[in-house]
Amino acid sequence: MNGMDELEAARFRIYALQDGAVRAQALAFALTVGLFDRLEREPLTRDAIGAAFGLAPRVLPALLAFLASNGLIERREDGAFANTPATSAFLVRGSPRYAGGRGLLFQGFYPAIAHLPESLASGQPWTPEGQHDMFAGFTAEQQRWFAEGMYANAVHGGRSLAEVVDFSDFQRLLDVGGNSGGYAIALAGANPGLRATIFDLEGVRELALERVAAAGLTERVAFAAGSFFEDELPRGHDVVLLSSILHDWDDGDCMTILARCFRAIEPGGTIVVAEPMLAEDATGPDHPAASGLTMALLGGENRTRRRIGEMLEAAGFSGTWMSELLPQNSVVKAVRAE
Ligand SMILES: C[S@@+](CC[C@H](N)C(=O)[O-])C[C@H]1O[C@@H](n2cnc3c(N)ncnc32)[C@H](O)[C@@H]1O
Repeated sequence: MNGMDELEAARFRIYALQDGAVRAQALAFALTVGLFDRLEREPLTRDAIGAAFGLAPRVLPALLAFLASNGLIERREDGAFANTPATSAFLVRGSPRYAGGRGLLFQGFYPAIAHLPESLASGQPWTPEGQHDMFAGFTAEQQRWFAEGMYANAVHGGRSLAEVVDFSDFQRLLDVGGNSGGYAIALAGANPGLRATIFDLEGVRELALERVAAAGLTERVAFAAGSFFEDELPRGHDVVLLSSILHDWDDGDCMTILARCFRAIEPGGTIVVAEPMLAEDATGPDHPAASGLTMALLGGENRTRRRIGEMLEAAGFSGTWMSELLPQNSVVKAVRAE
């Protein structure tokens, strides 16, 4: 902004953090009513937006000003509002880079987020059972918004993982806690020689099979139901993926999951861990740092790459390799030597 020195600019960044709740709600509202989907079809005047979405004239300018000032819509010379290129790419349903589902996921976390101060003070998850409680207790409706959020993450995470790890070297992927298949679909889609099994709780099966069928991958991507705390993992895979799994859990639960992965994986096979990871001095990056707060609330933790490597070695893996520190998910991989 014109004439603003660095300290003043910092004051407005602080304001934006303080306003975070209302910003998140306004964006989620625009997504939920389908405003961006509609503007993608045709730019609309303010009055037409009000009429189309039943919004009161007194408050409509506030919503539009917020969206415009954040670069999510733009006002054209004729007065109509249109999507910006970023909105067309990331906030219009059906875009291959749709990221809107993340916002809906955080809507689902709202009741929990109110308990962050307690979790920060006690070091304990919001509910006594943390993630155990959450995943086991999901209703079908919650399962759907969670999957939508995870899928939105995976569209981007899958692409960046494929840039870091060459999956064409593998034949059989086990995607542990693979949810509705965002990663399995991205990786099998990009590697015609790769077959995949998504392993997740029974409640996820239908959503996963829907997505796999929509991607035309039913022949190569299967679903196996089970719990990585109670059941052995399916065998016969030469690569196991843990994407955003370890950060859901405390160290003890992580070691249980890693022991099961070690037993399941073929000797000579590879384990790939991809999730938001912190810099060794825990000063960022932004996305892993912020998502670490959600993990703390739910009983998990965003760790450093070195810490993940130590856990893999404690579980019996060797030959640990780490990606550079990446803004969304970093990657640590290792092999089961024998
Ligand atoms: C944070 S999500 C990650 C989803 C996916 N890997 C991704 O990166 O998009 C965690 C996943 O673990 C699954 N999960 C939770 N508890 C589980 C359990 N006990 N056994 C198997 N899967 C579980 C959840 O259903 C969910 O799909």
